[in-house]
Amino acid sequence: MANNKESFGSKFGIIAAAAGSAIGLGNIYRFPCEAGANGGGAFFIVYLGIVLLMGLPLMVSEFVIGRRSGKNPVGAFKTLAPESKGWTSIGYMGVVCAFLILAFYCTVAGWTIDAVGKSIINYYHGLDKVTIQNDFNNLMNESWQPILSEGIFIFLTAFIIVRGVTKGIEKFSKILMPILLGILIILGVKSLTLPGAADGIEFFLKPDFSKITGKVLINALGQAFFSLSLGMGCLITYGSYIAKKDNLTSTAFAVCISDTLIAVLAGIVIFPAAFSFGIKPEAGNELAFVTLPMLFDQMAGGYFFCLIFFLLLTIAALTSSISLLEVPVLYLTEQLKISRKKATVYSAIGAFILCVISSESLHDGSPLRIFGLSVFDSLDAFTSTFLMTIGGLLTVVFLGWKMKKSDFMDEYTNGGTVSMGLRRIMYFIIKFLAPVAITVILITQFIK
Ligand code: PHE
Repeated sequence: MANNKESFGSKFGIIAAAAGSAIGLGNIYRFPCEAGANGGGAFFIVYLGIVLLMGLPLMVSEFVIGRRSGKNPVGAFKTLAPESKGWTSIGYMGVVCAFLILAFYCTVAGWTIDAVGKSIINYYHGLDKVTIQNDFNNLMNESWQPILSEGIFIFLTAFIIVRGVTKGIEKFSKILMPILLGILIILGVKSLTLPGAADGIEFFLKPDFSKITGKVLINALGQAFFSLSLGMGCLITYGSYIAKKDNLTSTAFAVCISDTLIAVLAGIVIFPAAFSFGIKPEAGNELAFVTLPMLFDQMAGGYFFCLIFFLLLTIAALTSSISLLEVPVLYLTEQLKISRKKATVYSAIGAFILCVISSESLHDGSPLRIFGLSVFDSLDAFTSTFLMTIGGLLTVVFLGWKMKKSDFMDEYTNGGTVSMGLRRIMYFIIKFLAPVAITVILITQFIK
């Protein structure tokens, strides 16, 4: 099938853009929260296994589906399986999932923007833990401030989208993510030298296998899919922009490695510092938004590092949110023939309304709760542990059992021009191992 729409400018462009989608708040904010709440080292080891055995093959699958069809997730399944309509529901699920993720993602991005503002005025300097904690809790209870920063964030996202894929996304991702990596390394070194740091490292990296439960498995699966932007059509969408000559495995590999590296570094930065400052690993939101400002304040050049770090984190969040918003935008433009500008504006407004509901649900005593959880937490849990895992499962099942093996191999090997020693193993994982493993994890969870 011809793919005659705009392609990414270069090999590095697609890696940068897909890594831009993957690397974001999921790595620096969500990964430590999940690791902290799920036993540290036990979670970490399971997470690594899942990235390798399920994340990577699923990413390849999404690239294959996207590039083969050249379409958005809904159009992709329509094109590849025209006679059986059921498969397109994977695509629709992805569009819905993108909105729901955006709602809580932009809430957290709003806190990040708030931290940028505070860094500019050197607000954190000299503050003790309790003050920063209170401040962070007050922020969640403010009525206008969070809405304003969320609005700014969604506006920026929409602005970049309207400018188009190649120019918009590539330019932003290429230079900045390596700088973020550099700062994390510097932070890691500082964090490791704090008194009591060893306890944090032990918690994060030393696996206690007795702690691996069904809950740890499902949460690690959800976190891996969330962090790698899988199971909701995002990388199908990006796959549709990949040039026919690009090597899909090496692209997926590079994205998985860089995403995991950033998450692991975030853990190495946050846990030693949190233990040293007396912040509990289960502290959730505070792990990033209280620990990090305290860490910067202890460093030479802390003002500078704090500001640059939160700015880069905002940009990392932006390169993820544009990939999220791109899913409904491409759906609306390709399937419903709405202009790109209009599609962006409608989608951004929809996401903003949901986001306001999600952030208002975090007010103390807010009635906006679903099954006892705030709307914010419910959206987070529902998308990562349910929609994305089911979406991922259906995607590998589609590739392994619905698409012709020869079509898969043709696309995967660029029409036979790249020899891939791994292709049989990859196909085996996609067809058997990944679907079985995901199903088992889902079942253990639902039985509970
Ligand atoms: N992977 C992104 C992050 O880690 C979030 C995301 C999820 C982006 C799903 C796109 C799709 O921050």
